[in-house]
Amino acid sequence: MIRLCALTQRRSAATIVGRWLDFHRGARAASQGLLRCQTPNQPYSSGPQAASHPQLDPPVKPFSALPEPMKGMPGILKFLVVLCTGGMSRKAQLKSHMMIGQLFQMYGPILRNRFGNFDMVNTCDPDAAREVFKVEGKYPERLDIAPWRLHREDAGKELAVLLGNDKKWHKNRTVVSRPMLRPQSVAAYVLKIDDVATDMLQHIRSVRAGPEGTEVLDLENELFKWALESISAVLFNERMGLLQDNIPQDAQDFINGMHDAFDSLTRAMTPDARLHKLLNTKSWQKNKQAWDTVFKIGEKVMDRQLQRAEERQARGEADDGQLDFLSFISSREKLTKEEIYANAIELMGAAIDTTSTTLLWTLYQLCHRPDLQDKLYQEVTQVIGQDEVITFDHLKNLHLFKAVIKETLRLHPVAFAITRVIQQDTILMGYEIPAKTVVMVSLYDMARDPRLYKHPEEYRPERWLRGAEDYVDTHPYAYLPFGFGTRSCIGRRVAETELQVLLAKICQQFVLKQRNPRVIPAMTKGILMPAEKMDICFIERQ
Ligand code: HEM
Repeated sequence: MIRLCALTQRRSAATIVGRWLDFHRGARAASQGLLRCQTPNQPYSSGPQAASHPQLDPPVKPFSALPEPMKGMPGILKFLVVLCTGGMSRKAQLKSHMMIGQLFQMYGPILRNRFGNFDMVNTCDPDAAREVFKVEGKYPERLDIAPWRLHREDAGKELAVLLGNDKKWHKNRTVVSRPMLRPQSVAAYVLKIDDVATDMLQHIRSVRAGPEGTEVLDLENELFKWALESISAVLFNERMGLLQDNIPQDAQDFINGMHDAFDSLTRAMTPDARLHKLLNTKSWQKNKQAWDTVFKIGEKVMDRQLQRAEERQARGEADDGQLDFLSFISSREKLTKEEIYANAIELMGAAIDTTSTTLLWTLYQLCHRPDLQDKLYQEVTQVIGQDEVITFDHLKNLHLFKAVIKETLRLHPVAFAITRVIQQDTILMGYEIPAKTVVMVSLYDMARDPRLYKHPEEYRPERWLRGAEDYVDTHPYAYLPFGFGTRSCIGRRVAETELQVLLAKICQQFVLKQRNPRVIPAMTKGILMPAEKMDICFIERQ
């Protein structure tokens, strides 16, 4: 009997290992473009949204019945399987967005994923997403970004609008959202954003090299500098000088720190950030050093600005509408100095990679659509004409530019998934999900679902233009690149403005070409970014 049990256990372990290996093979196939995410023409959900005919409802299943890779395998064995099959490798982690897609193919649109510190439910179903956001509660909570949070706790720093939770988050969000989201403030930022974009064009011209002298060799880094320069102008009313020939040392250290904070993120949280901290692994050291640098330099810049803001206020020089972000939040007197520092640093942390990578993907896609570049040129010429400065009013009429950015964020959502710790028990797709479960809604997989978009793998910005043949009126929870509700992206307006302004100027003056035209896959490094260096040429438009 005991031998029979042992045999059965061995068999089931072998089956589980087999499934894990299948999953890995599948991920490889997906990376080669051999697989599609979903089967067309299936309804989105068999869950509560479809529950209008009670007699047809299948019985609700318990949480334990959720499909789960390597279900029933003891944690240590799971760890060994993942380790031995390369699942802990850097390569595997860089493909985590695709691996989740593979799991959906194998287990269906909802599943449970348990490994190390992670225990979450994943879904790619927009109806399920709707249910998740219904139970996100008054103070919505995302999956903990543990390496960043642990650094703050160690260094005695505050958690603010990005990393904070509960009432603390709410207090920060209330103060910070006004200068970030109200149209009056954004209109005031456009001029600063335009100023940086003009310098960026000059910078592009000065760094072009390559065989024909038109290629920006380290485009990723150049756009990163542009995004940091822009957000610094918006938040601190101060230019960092990143688009000059000689970058100030502090600015270079700051940018390196920001890079390293993202670069080490996925590794420093797998399987458990606390373990990395305890063992003082290389990833933990990189994470710690990165944030120490960012705080040290950031606080120096802010002290300077706060001092100036106090002086201006004392002289009664600026009203609310003209105040830059830092002056505005300090003038409210609701946040301590430490909280102000933490908010500004978190905004910068959330602003740079996201915006620069979105532009990078857009330029890449435009290289493959010369016809679209011509249409954009026509639009910008018509709307902006000979004006050198792009204003808030111009932006209202750049419809195709908006559609282009929208389409980039559909196909290449930098945040490839949105997470919520649900605040009450709920039912998702027929399964009971207890309160406090982390649910991850995969934007990447919804974007590639043929039930939600026609030709989902194709880059077609026209689908977002009302009245166009391709116009898409998809499920309201299928397209959420900036998240959802009160916890959604606070920098959305700033990001869209930065992207529209620089893209308009680029299309006005350059034709874009990829030196070696090819498909560039994505990888996950905190956000979804190109897995190879982009070789984009900026050719002067005649
Ligand atoms: C294309 C650019 C950007 C994208 C795609 C993006 C996307 C997102 C997403 C998906 C979230 C999570 C939302 C949720 O959980 O529901 C988020 C949160 C956030 N973003 Fe952005 N973001 C971008 C640019 C920016 C910029 C420029 C800033 C700052 C100026 C910023 C600041 C933040 C902050 C502070 C949060 C946390 C908000 C909170 O928890 O209350 N983001 N962003």
